[in-house]
Amino acid sequence: MSAIVSRLIHSPSSVSRALSSGLLNYGRLLSTESNRVDEPLKVEEAETVKAPPPPSEKLLVLGGNGFVGSHVCKEALDQGLSVSSLSRSGRSSIRESWADKVEWLQGSLLVPESWKDVMNDVTAVISCVGGFGSNSYMYKINGTSNINAIRAAAEKGVKRFVYISAADFGLVNYLLQGYYEGKRAAEAELLTKFTYGGVILRPGFIYGTRQVGSMKIPLGLIGSPLEMVLQHAKPLNRLPLVGPLLTPPVNVTAVAKVAVRAANDPVFPPGIVDVHGILRYSERK
Ligand SMILES: NC(=O)c1ccc[n+]([C@@H]2O[C@H](COP(=O)([O-])OP(=O)(O)OC[C@H]3O[C@@H](n4cnc5c(N)ncnc54)[C@H](OP(=O)(O)O)[C@@H]3O)[C@@H](O)[C@H]2O)c1
Repeated sequence: MSAIVSRLIHSPSSVSRALSSGLLNYGRLLSTESNRVDEPLKVEEAETVKAPPPPSEKLLVLGGNGFVGSHVCKEALDQGLSVSSLSRSGRSSIRESWADKVEWLQGSLLVPESWKDVMNDVTAVISCVGGFGSNSYMYKINGTSNINAIRAAAEKGVKRFVYISAADFGLVNYLLQGYYEGKRAAEAELLTKFTYGGVILRPGFIYGTRQVGSMKIPLGLIGSPLEMVLQHAKPLNRLPLVGPLLTPPVNVTAVAKVAVRAANDPVFPPGIVDVHGILRYSERK
């Protein structure tokens, strides 16, 4: 029942539809004509509102100098947000004019003393922190570091927190155990601490132009054609073992757009958004 109420709360248009067609009563609709109890209103996805943010809205991007993080920073600036980034190395190596508008902060999420004031006055956080290595390193970087950030954000009263997680890849999950266990532990913490303002994006392979030092690597040459083919192969995702490997890749600009929207739009529904959800939301105006 609470899920239905929450969906209605997050969809003003469905609430007004509910009110105009009958009375809203504990998640069921009572028709005014016959007092008949109808089935709960089914809302597939809330309609989100795109309004310019007030100038006081401050976004903190964790890992804003990485591949996904730098696209998130750029998108957030385009949306008129004030943006800061925290990472171990601080400033991005990108030499484009938008990068000068980001406040680049240095600190490790695994060393809380190195970033204790960064959440002050922050309205929303997007975490793009994650990585690969030994199992214990992957658990720390994907799990512990994000759990530290989620707890600190909740304590400081941050309203919304978006976490870039990862899609399940079936058998691959066993090979990268620390990575997936870390991701799922951070997701669980987010859903507990940010019941109404926590959004988890679960992309598969993310493609786009990745900056490595002064070089730009166009990963889109592989990702884009695969995305076109695989987004129409959704039923095949349910196949045992191979299904998860057919998760369509997604463009980094689509991930950034949905992440910023989820951080900025108070009616964006909380919870998990899979790759198909990311593709759908990214197409919305
Ligand atoms: N790329 C993909 O295809 C893909 C697919 C699915 C999911 N994802 C997820 O998306 C997220 C972003 O991926 P990406 O490809 O953009 O990775 P990336 O380029 O390696 O970026 C990771 C970021 O995390 C920062 N970071 C690492 N450890 C940190 C720490 N202890 N404290 C603070 N910052 C730290 C890094 O900066 P410093 O090194 O300067 O600290 C960097 O900015 C990750 O969670 C990843 O698992 C990526």
